[in-house]
Amino acid sequence: MIFSFAADGTTASDHAKIVGPNACAECHKQEAEAWKGTHHFKTYGEMPRRKEANEIAARMGVQRIRSESMCLTCHYTVQEKENRKQPVAGISCESCHSAGDDWIKVHSGYSGKTDKTETKAEKDARWKLAEGKGMIRPSSLYRLAKNCYSCHVVPQEDLVNKGGHPAGSAFELFSWSQGEVRHNTWHNKGKENAPANAARKRMLYLVGLGVELETGLRAVSRATARKLYAFEMAKRVDRARKQLAAAAKAAPDVPEINKMVEHAHSAGLKLNNESALTAAAEGVSKLLASITEKYDGSTMAGLDSMIPGPDKIKGKAREAGAVN
Ligand code: HEC
Ligand code: HEC
Ligand code: HEC
Ligand code: HEC
Repeated sequence: MIFSFAADGTTASDHAKIVGPNACAECHKQEAEAWKGTHHFKTYGEMPRRKEANEIAARMGVQRIRSESMCLTCHYTVQEKENRKQPVAGISCESCHSAGDDWIKVHSGYSGKTDKTETKAEKDARWKLAEGKGMIRPSSLYRLAKNCYSCHVVPQEDLVNKGGHPAGSAFELFSWSQGEVRHNTWHNKGKENAPANAARKRMLYLVGLGVELETGLRAVSRATARKLYAFEMAKRVDRARKQLAAAAKAAPDVPEINKMVEHAHSAGLKLNNESALTAAAEGVSKLLASITEKYDGSTMAGLDSMIPGPDKIKGKAREAGAVN
C-alpha cells in the first residue's frame, strides 16, 4: 500500500494521540506565531483551492481532498476523536515533534517541581520519559529530519506518475529549516529567533544529506515502472551519494560518511531490487544514528564551504517579539 512509508517516517500518524497546535500554543506562543507565517500553516486553507490540486485529485480519483487520506498524510494534521478523523491544521507542531498526547504533560511538568527545584537527575529522567513516549526533540536530529524527508521526497509512485504531483521538493535540511520554519525562541525566553550556530549548521547539512539518501533508496526500492517517479528518485540517490562522497573528503575524521556512500553503491538503482535497496537504506540508517550520537559538528569545519549560503535560505524567519 502507498502508505507504507509512514512506518519509517512520519510519527504524526497516530491520529488518536494528536492534541492539535492550539494545545501547544497555550505555552509556546512565539513558536506558534512563527509557524503561522509558514507554508505549512497556510496549506490548510490554500492547497485545496488550487487548480493543480484539483487536477491531481481528479487524476487520482479523489473526490474531496480534505477527507482523502492520500492527501491528508502530508498536507494536514489529522486528529481522531470518538472514532472520527478530521484535519485540524496544516503541517503543524506534531507533524515534526510527533503526536503529543502521551508526552505533553511529561515534557513540561518539571517532574512535579519547578524549573528551579527540579534536580539534574530528575530532569534527565523527565526527558528520557518524554522521548520514550515518542517526543522528538531538536536534539534528536535524525528523527526530526526523517519526518521532513518522508513528506518532501514524496515517495509515492502513483501520486507522481498517475497524479502528476511534484516528485518531491528541492529540499535541503539546513537551508529549508532556517528560514520561515525557524522558531528557536523558547530556550532564550523569546529574546531572539536564534539561527543555527556553525556546528549545528554542519550537522543539519550532513544529517540532511544522509536522510535524503536513505529516503531516496527506500523510494527507489518501491518503484515498479520505468517512469518519472523511478527516474526522479534514482536521481536523488545519485546526487546525495555524490555530495556525501565530497563531504567524506572534506570531513575525513568522520569515517561514517564514506560508509554511507559504500552502502549507497551496494545496490543497483533499478526496478525489482527491493531487498538490496532496503538493506542499503538500513545500513545508512544505522550510520546516521551513530553520527548523531557521536558528533556535534564542532570538528567538521571542512564542510563549511559545501553548505548552502544565505541566499538559499527558504523564506524569512519571524523576528522574535511578544505575541498579543
Ligand atoms: C503547559 C505548557 C506546555 C505545553 C502545553 C507544551 N509545552 Fe513544550 N515545553 C514546555 C516547557 C516548560 C518546556 C521546557 C522544559 C525544559 O526546558 O526543561 C518545553 C519544551 C519544548 C520543546 C523543546 C525541547 C528541548 O529538547 O529543548 C519542544 C520541541 C516542545 N516543548 C514542543 C511542544 C509541543 C509540540 C507541544 C504540543 C504538543 C508542547 N510543547 C506543549 C511547556 C509546554
Ligand atoms: C508524500 C507526501 C505528499 C502527499 C501524499 C501529497 N503531497 Fe502534495 N505536496 C507535498 C510536498 C512536499 C509539496 C511541496 C512540493 C514543492 O516543494 O514544490 C506538495 C505540493 C503540492 C501542491 C503544490 C503546492 C500547492 O500547495 O499548491 C499541490 C497542489 C499538492 N501538493 C496537492 C496534493 C494532493 C491533491 C494530494 C493528494 C492527492 C497530495 N498533494 C498528496 C507532499 C505530498
Ligand atoms: C516543520 C517541522 C516543525 C514544525 C511544524 C514545528 N517544529 Fe518545532 N522545531 C523543529 C525543528 C527542526 C527545531 C530545531 C531547529 C534548530 O535546531 O535550529 C524545532 C525546535 C523547537 C523548539 C525549541 C526551540 C528553542 O528555543 O530551542 C520548540 C519549543 C518547538 N520546536 C516547538 C514547536 C511548536 C510548539 C510547534 C507548533 C506551533 C512547532 N515546534 C512546529 C521543527 C518543527
Ligand atoms: C507532514 C509532511 C511535512 C513535513 C513533516 C515537513 N514538511 Fe515542509 N512542506 C510540506 C508540504 C506539503 C509543503 C507545501 C505546502 C504548500 O505550499 O502548500 C511544505 C513546504 C515547506 C516549505 C516552504 C517551501 C516553499 O515553497 O517556500 C519549507 C521551507 C519546508 N516545508 C521545510 C520543512 C522542514 C525544514 C521540515 C522538517 C523540519 C519540513 N518541512 C517537514 C510537508 C511537510
